[in-house]
Amino acid sequence: MLDLSPRPGDLEPIETASLDELRSLQLDRLQWSVRHAYDHVPHYRQALDAAGVHPDDVKDLADLAKLPFTTKADLRENYPFGMFAVPREQVSRVHASSGTTGKPTVVGYTRADLDTWATVVARSIRAAGGRAGHVLHNAYGYGLFTGGLGAHYGAEKLGCTVVPVSGGMTERQVQLIGDFRPDIIMVTPSYMLSVVDEMERQGIDPRSTSLEVGIFGAEPWTNDMRREMEERLDMHAVDIYGLSEVIGPGVASECVETKDGLHVWEDHFYPEVVDPVTGEVLPDGEEGELVLTSLTKEAMPVLRYRTRDLTRLQPGTARTMRRMEKVTGRTDDMIILRGVNLFPTQVEELVLTLPPLSPHFQCILEREGHLDSLTVLVERREHAAADAGDAAGAELRRLVKASIGVSVGVDVVAPGTVERSVGKMRRIVDRRPVR
Ligand code: DLL
Repeated sequence: MLDLSPRPGDLEPIETASLDELRSLQLDRLQWSVRHAYDHVPHYRQALDAAGVHPDDVKDLADLAKLPFTTKADLRENYPFGMFAVPREQVSRVHASSGTTGKPTVVGYTRADLDTWATVVARSIRAAGGRAGHVLHNAYGYGLFTGGLGAHYGAEKLGCTVVPVSGGMTERQVQLIGDFRPDIIMVTPSYMLSVVDEMERQGIDPRSTSLEVGIFGAEPWTNDMRREMEERLDMHAVDIYGLSEVIGPGVASECVETKDGLHVWEDHFYPEVVDPVTGEVLPDGEEGELVLTSLTKEAMPVLRYRTRDLTRLQPGTARTMRRMEKVTGRTDDMIILRGVNLFPTQVEELVLTLPPLSPHFQCILEREGHLDSLTVLVERREHAAADAGDAAGAELRRLVKASIGVSVGVDVVAPGTVERSVGKMRRIVDRRPVR
């Protein structure tokens, strides 16, 4: 794999500024952002007044903890444009989350916000090793989802040649990768696996493509999955994180030279980690729920937004900004099985230690009588014999019991039978009756 470390002059000055400089910039911006939200969004004025805090009370960064949290429910209650802090005419674009239940959440951007977004995505692609002149295949979905257009404008801003493929039509993805010879691919990790399978089906060696870097995000994936991708594709695999409520992709991203977690672009988004139950701010290093505050957004500032994503904060390494560890999962994706907490990422780690099993799996939740049960539905790999697959299935059951502490069923199925997605993969299928 190529050495893609940055050369002197590649980075923006703030990426390697001193911590003092960064903190002082953050405080100025935080004071502006809180004031802006309070003055222009009725929801924030009411919430701050009810909590007895005023923008003038934010005198240093720790004062952020005095402010009330913002949740997805707050955004829903203000559907569609009630959280905007500028007149609608100044909103250049909206995006929306799919909203599996009820109304979607709508987010808006001014021209300046779109420019900020492109800047942080360009920075993320650069951190991954991307440079002006690279060809970038963008297979994140275009449309209301922030993945496609977010990656697109960031890549253009960096000076890449963008191939705006969007998700789906897997055969064509493979053809375009062969014909246009991209250096970089941006796609969800689960859809990348489908693209790799399709290459193999067509008799193309995935290690022989032009791809040097994959920038994967929008769903949790593990370091074991990184190893799988890097080996199968002979390229670097790095993580990109974000959420529409905060801006979209580009809130945090991994550096190719260290691959040690995602640097949060803290000059625009201030991270805290809190206890998901009590809401108490936890010291850096402890795992909890990530809470984000926008520092520069005009159209839709967010103050202490509860992401529901579980991670921990660590000091910066390749950049000044703090890193967030790869996300373990969302608090709402935590399966509680007979009193034991379990995340699909834990299953992914174990599946990938067993060579006959492929990374295509789902966790099926059912109820038998009064007891919940979990079955891991997992495909055996193309080259693996059925009995080797079954033996690996038995071993997976043993590993789950030994390392997570709960008994699950394992169903090893033929290649190509587990549901595929062209975007975010549905890892949990809940078949329990609604109570
Ligand atoms: O998924 C934005 C995005 C697009 C990020 C493309 C990266 C690449 P939403 O649809 O609003 O936005 O979903 C946000 O997805 O709260 C996490 O639960 C999850 N998520 C996003 N990136 C990661 C990641 C986009 N790298 C939600 N690792 C977030 C784990 C991720 N989970």
